[in-house]
Amino acid sequence: MKILIIGSGGREHAILRRLASDTPTPELHAAPGNPGIAQLATCHDVSVTDLDAQVSLAEELQPDLVVIGPEAPLVAGAADRLQAAGFAVFGPSAAAAHLEGSKSWAKEIMAAAGVPTSASVTVTDLSQLEAGLDRVNPLRDVPFVVKADGLAAGKGVVVTEDHRAAIAHAEAVLAAGGSVVLEEFLDGPEVSLFCVSDGTRVVPLAPAQDFKRALDDDEGPNTGGMGAYSPLPWAPEGLVQDVLRTVARPTIAELAARGIPFVGVLYCGLALTSRGLRVIEFNARFGDPETQVVLERLTSPLAPLLLAAARGELAEDTELTWSQDSAVTVVLASAGYPATVRTGDPISGIEAAEALGTHVIHAGTGLEGDTLVSAGGRVLSVVATGEDLEAARALALAGAEAIGLEGSHHRTDIARRAAADARASSLGTGPGTGPVTAPDTDTETETETETETETETETEDRA
Ligand code: AMP
Ligand code: GLY
Repeated sequence: MKILIIGSGGREHAILRRLASDTPTPELHAAPGNPGIAQLATCHDVSVTDLDAQVSLAEELQPDLVVIGPEAPLVAGAADRLQAAGFAVFGPSAAAAHLEGSKSWAKEIMAAAGVPTSASVTVTDLSQLEAGLDRVNPLRDVPFVVKADGLAAGKGVVVTEDHRAAIAHAEAVLAAGGSVVLEEFLDGPEVSLFCVSDGTRVVPLAPAQDFKRALDDDEGPNTGGMGAYSPLPWAPEGLVQDVLRTVARPTIAELAARGIPFVGVLYCGLALTSRGLRVIEFNARFGDPETQVVLERLTSPLAPLLLAAARGELAEDTELTWSQDSAVTVVLASAGYPATVRTGDPISGIEAAEALGTHVIHAGTGLEGDTLVSAGGRVLSVVATGEDLEAARALALAGAEAIGLEGSHHRTDIARRAAADARASSLGTGPGTGPVTAPDTDTETETETETETETETETEDRA
C-alpha cells in the first residue's frame, strides 16, 4: 500500500512511525515532511497550504490513501480536492472541518445532537457582552471563558477571573471583526479522546491527557501542548464508552443527517466536571502531542483502520489492541516559545536520548547543510514507554535532558501527579485509592490561548 501524508510536524512523524511498523510495511510519502520524517518516508517539497500542488503530487504518486494531518489544509478544503481527484482521503471535508473552524457552529451541532457541553452565548456586538457574561456566569464566582469564534490568527481563548480582562479580550476579538463565544466555566480534569469515523461509524482510540501551559505546575502561557501521557489510570470506568454514546456518535450522526459526513479523527476535548462529562472543544484531526503517546501504545496496524475510514467501510466492531505499557512524551520547545521563537540553533544529543531507550519525534526541525537545527516553536517530542507512568515519565525526562538545544525549555512535571497517584493506588495507600482525583489539570484562572491557526501551526512547527 502506498500512503501520502500531508504535514510537517510531530503529529505526522508519529503517524508515520506507526504506519512504518505495520506489516506489510506501506510505501510512505510525506509533503513536506521534516528531517525526522525523512528517515521513514520520501519527502516532497509541497507546502501544507498549496492544495494544487498536493493534488498534482497525488496524481504523480497515485497513493492508495492520503492522510491529512493539520487543520490548515482541512479547513481550506484539501480533502475535498483530493477526493474529487479520485483519491481515498483520511481527513474531513472543509464543511465537516468547520467543527474545528467555528466554535459557535460546533456549539450549534452539539445543541442539535444533545451533546453535553458548557452553556454558551455567541456575541457579535459590544452591546451584547455584559448580558452574555451574566448569562453564562451569573454569580461571577468562577472564571469567565471568552473565545474567539474562528481559527483567525492571534485570537484565542481567555479564561480569567478578571471581569475587565474578559471584556477586553471580547472587545479585541469584536474589533478585529470576529464574533465571540462566551462560555460557562468547566471544572475538572481534561481528557483528549480521538474517535476515528468513516462518516457513519465510530471507533475510539485510547484516551490521553495533554499539558497546555508552558511551565511546570500549569504556570505560564498556553501552548500547543508541552507533553502528554496515556493511559489515564485515574479515568472513571466506562469513560470511553460514555464519550462514544453521549458525544462522538451523536455528533457524527448529526453531521451525517445534515449531509456533512465526517471522515477522519473527531478529536473530543473533554472536561470531566463535577456535574459530568462536557465537551470543551472539537478538533477535526489528531492532536499534537497526544498522538505521540496514543499511537505509541496502539499495537494493531494503523493503515487498514485509516483506509477503511477513508473508504466509508469502517467496521464498528473493530477491536483495536493496545500495549499495557504507559507512554509519556515531553516536548522540547525553542527559546521564547510560545511567543516569538528563536530558530536556527543546532540540535545535539538525539542519539544519546535514543540510546537511553526513548525515541525522538521531530516537530519543528530543519537542516542547514548537514546540521540539524531548530525550525519552529515545538522542536522535538521525546517519547518513552514503561511498565507504568512513573517509569515512562522518568525515561522521557532523561531523554529530554540528554538533548542539547540552546535556550530550549521543557516541562519536568508531565504525568507526575497521575504517576504518583497510580503508584500510591497500586500500593493501596495514597490518594489514588479514593474517588477520581483531578491530576495535572489546567485549573488556570488566567489563561490566554492562541488558537492554533493555519499559519500559526505552520510557523510553530516549521518556520
Ligand atoms: P480550547 O481552544 O477551546 O480548547 O481552549 C483552550 C483551553 O482553555 C482548554 O484546553 C481549557 O484548558 C481552557 N478552557 C476552554 N474552555 C473552557 C471552559 N469552558 N471552562 C474552563 N476552561 C476552558
Ligand atoms: N494538543 C492540542 C491540539 O492538538 O490541539
